Amino acid sequence: MSNAEDHAGTRRDFLYYATAGTGAVAVGAAVWPLVNQMNPSADVLALSSIRVDVSGIAEGTQLTVKWLGKPVFIRLRTEKEIEEARAVNVSDLPDQNAENANIAANAPATDENRALDETGEWLVMMGVCTHLGCVPLGNAGDFDGWFCPCHGSHYDTAGRIRKGPAPRNLPVPVAEFVDASTIKLG
Ligand code: FES
Repeated sequence: MSNAEDHAGTRRDFLYYATAGTGAVAVGAAVWPLVNQMNPSADVLALSSIRVDVSGIAEGTQLTVKWLGKPVFIRLRTEKEIEEARAVNVSDLPDQNAENANIAANAPATDENRALDETGEWLVMMGVCTHLGCVPLGNAGDFDGWFCPCHGSHYDTAGRIRKGPAPRNLPVPVAEFVDASTIKLG
């Protein structure tokens, strides 16, 4: 079945519910977003996973790629950045959750639980401030990590919120190395 047909079928179902009485309308309305999520269109499917060549990223810099319409920061951290991040006590953090989609939902926000690889050189995270969604600036802020200029949120070198209104660490998306120089997102 094509997407167009699929869409039309779903819409017909919805209209059917809508004409079947008030109670059924509520059911139809609740089901609609779920049905949509279960049938992603072809262009969404094509973008749901991308491969990024990271061989050109120099130490101490980041590549920003757009994925699912949002910026993703891929950073090759310096030894100093890793040391700073690993010296932090998790109990001092405003958000003590790793916010890492690759590990358990309740994993603590240690640097080891944030970095992509064991050495901690690679950090991959969504470049979207957890306050109101601005894009934080790199190599900035009071904690040598990222600074969101919109309302003054400071993130450390592991992308964890340290100061300012943002409530959560920058989320780490599903990501993995598929070869020595390629990271797959999604
Ligand atoms: S959106 Fe970043 S601090 Fe408000």
